[in-house]
Formats: sequence, structure tokens, C-alpha cells
Amino acid sequence: MSGRWWETAVFYQVYPRSFQDTDGNGVGDLEGVRRRLDHLQWLGVDAVWLTPITPSPDDDFGYDVSDFRGVHPELGTLEDLDRLLSDAEARGLRVLLDLVPNHTSDRHPWFGDPAHEDWYVWTARPNNWLSVFGGRAWDWDARRGRYYLHQYLPSQPDLDWWNPAVRREFLDILRFWFDRGVAGFRIDCANRVIKDRELRDNPPVGPDMHPAAARLGQRPLYTTDQPEVHGIYRNWRRLCQAYAPERVLVGETWFFDLERLAAYYGNDDELQLNFNFLLTHSPLDLDVLRGVVENTESTLPAFAWPCWALSNHDVSRFMTRWCGGDERKARVAMTLLLTLRGAPFLYQGDEIGLADQPVPPDRLRDPLDARMPGQLRGRDPERTPMPWSPGPGAGFTRPGVEPWLPLGSDWRSVEEQRADPASFLNFTRALIAERRANPDLRSGGYRTLESPPGVWRYRRGERTVVTLDFNRWESGIERQ
Ligand code: NOJ
Repeated sequence: MSGRWWETAVFYQVYPRSFQDTDGNGVGDLEGVRRRLDHLQWLGVDAVWLTPITPSPDDDFGYDVSDFRGVHPELGTLEDLDRLLSDAEARGLRVLLDLVPNHTSDRHPWFGDPAHEDWYVWTARPNNWLSVFGGRAWDWDARRGRYYLHQYLPSQPDLDWWNPAVRREFLDILRFWFDRGVAGFRIDCANRVIKDRELRDNPPVGPDMHPAAARLGQRPLYTTDQPEVHGIYRNWRRLCQAYAPERVLVGETWFFDLERLAAYYGNDDELQLNFNFLLTHSPLDLDVLRGVVENTESTLPAFAWPCWALSNHDVSRFMTRWCGGDERKARVAMTLLLTLRGAPFLYQGDEIGLADQPVPPDRLRDPLDARMPGQLRGRDPERTPMPWSPGPGAGFTRPGVEPWLPLGSDWRSVEEQRADPASFLNFTRALIAERRANPDLRSGGYRTLESPPGVWRYRRGERTVVTLDFNRWESGIERQ
């Protein structure tokens, strides 16, 4: 693979804390990811995205970064990462990390350091901005006698991207990891990093807004998607292009307006891939999903490569949310993901049809349950450990060790499914193999075909027709 390698790649998201524990502390680690590369290679994916591995007090499990150039001691060391990168490369797998440019942990040395004070956003008179994680987005800092901005937890202060020093620092952070062989980054909160310079109040929601985006009761006019964000990404893309193979940037572009999503591709000079959450947040409804795909096809510019995921570490798994545990539905959904034009991202466990696992109240770890009781669902059920084999510890950790989140029991392990040719895992693997073997599926265009009610048929490339039957929950791929 070379050139625009991300356009033919199947991506796989690893949540390292829950992938494989090797030191028996109940938390997955980088050595665990390395030891499970066999699985990823056997499955047939091309690239792996690791959610944050940098040091963090873990108020938001890695998304509160306290050092952008290190490895979280619970996950390993820089040497472990280097070993993982070189073993992955030997198997033809690329490794992406997660970059969190919008905010740091309040325990990042910058936040307490007077010399870095202007790296954060301060005000004497808070505006009406709200935190995505509940409550006001401003908290009082007694030391400075001012309020600081946090669009997420109070312990995640927002950086001030109007400050050129912040911009220089992040280019340097990117360089640091790219030089080590990291193939790219998923960019956390990609559309939020720069805020209105005048800190104007956000207006109320309008009827045109997607319900998921309207949740806060405000239109995020001044907190997201400021025009100046595009200059930042043009600089980053230039840096990516200075490497061979080109490094890839994947935007967590969390909004529901396809034209705004399209803007993050720039003129093919910004982020190469941008998650399309319209699909993820749609119901499993043929008309709705087909509408999202058709609108995406007609809205994104010709050079832009779409980017799709059914699950991730922030939303209920598709097996639960879409399929209610029905494997027939899950096969149709997986066929969709792996036959659409664009980059498919599997979330660890998707390949075995893993469902959300129940997490009892005394085991909850995600702070969202406590911050917004009854309003915002915590994310622990989709973050439980990978079940690799039957038996105590499920192959994730040593028998007798309590994993950081419960394993649950509503699953069939990787080992059991590997041995069963008719399993969901082998179905997923066959789809990935088919995609790899068929240039139409890898890179051909998309066109909706006439089909009876309840059936979605589309052509990929010249000769491949995909049929998704939402009446009988069956799917097929035909080469004509
Ligand atoms: C999006 C990440 O995916 C999520 O897990 C995190 O809590 C927020 N951004 C804040 O960084």
C-alpha cells in the first residue's frame, strides 16, 4: 500500500485498557496489543487506531492528557510502543494514535504554570456556553481570580488556539510521534479546538438541528466549527505530506451537517478522513440509512473519501443499539459497513458481534453517569474488556484478577467463534477478505439501484452489487 493508502484500508479501533492485559493488573496494555497483533492480521485489517495512550489522571480515561509525549505508565512505556510499532509494521499493519488538541488535564504542567497561562481560555465574565458533559463550561480558578473554559469535564481545561505558541507546540507533538513511525492520528473534538475570539453567547437551538446535536439546548455557533480551524489543519496536512508514506489525520467531526463535514476535507489539503456520525447516530432503518449514504455521496467533493463507523467507545455498540442482539441484523449492518465507499472503522469487539455489557452501579467508571444522572448515559457498557476465550478472565486477564470493568457474559469469545466456520467472526473476516480481493468494493463508486420495498441494493464500481434485505435480514454481494 502506498499513495493514498487510507483509501483502501480497513481500520480497527483499539481501546487499549480493554484489549489485553499482560501484567495482571486488570487493565489492558501496549504489550497486550502487541501480543494480539496475530488476531488483527488474521482478521485482515490494515490499520489500528489506539485511543489515547498518553499519561493521564484518567478522569476521562486518557482524554485528559497530562503529557503529550509520553506513555501512560499503566499501559507501558515508549519502548513498548516502539516494539508494537515495529511488530505491526512487520505484519503490514499501520498504527494511528489519538491526539487531544482541544484540552489538557488540569494536572498537565502547563495548566499550573504562570508561563503557560495564556495557553488556556480565560474570562472575568462567563458567557452562556455549556459543557458537553453537563453544567456551565466555565469554572472559577481562585489562584488566577478568573474563570477558565472547559467544554468537557472541569478537569479538562480548553487550550487557546488563538495563541501561536499552542499551534507550534502541537505541530511539534505531531512530528514527535510521526518520527517514531506512527501512521497518523485520530483528532479528538476536531471541530471544537478553536472558539470564537470574542466569546459571544451561543444562540438557542433551532428546529433544523439533529436531536443529538440539540441536546444541550444551544446551537454551538461560537464553540464549534470556527472558520479559523481550517488553517490549523492545512498546516498539519502539510506536515503529513512531508512523510512517506503520508501520515493520515482522521477527524472526530461530531456534527450532523454534511456540508460542514465536507469542509474538513478542505481542498484535499486538510484532514484526509472525517467520521460521518450521521450514520452512526441513525436508527437501523433502511430509508434513513440510505438517505445518509446518498446525501453523503452527493455532498462530499469527489476527492473526499467517506469514513464510517457503527460503534466506538462513546456510543452503545451497534449489536445492542441497532440490532437488539439479533445476529441476523448485525450481519446486514456489518455488510453495509464493509461494502460502503469509504474507510470502514471497526471498533474492537464489533467483529464478534459484541453487545454492550451491563455494568453494575458500584463498578461504574465513566464520570458521565454521576454528572448527568438520567440525562446522559455513561460509556462503560461499550468499554468492557475483549472476551478472547471462555473461562475466568476471558483471556483478557489472568484468572482471579478483577478487570477494571466487568467482562459481562453476553458474548461468544474470539476463540470459540474462530473455531466455528458459521460464526459472526468468520462472517466479518470473510467480508474483509472479499473487500480486499475486489477492487470494486475497495475503491469503486457507489450507486443506488432500483429495489423492492425493504430492500437496499447498490452497485459498487462496475460489476459488484450489494443487496441488503431489511425484511428478511439477509445480505449478499454479487459480482456480475
Ligand atoms: C471525544 C472522545 O471520544 C471522548 O471519549 C471524550 O470524552 C471527549 N472527546 C473529550 O475528549
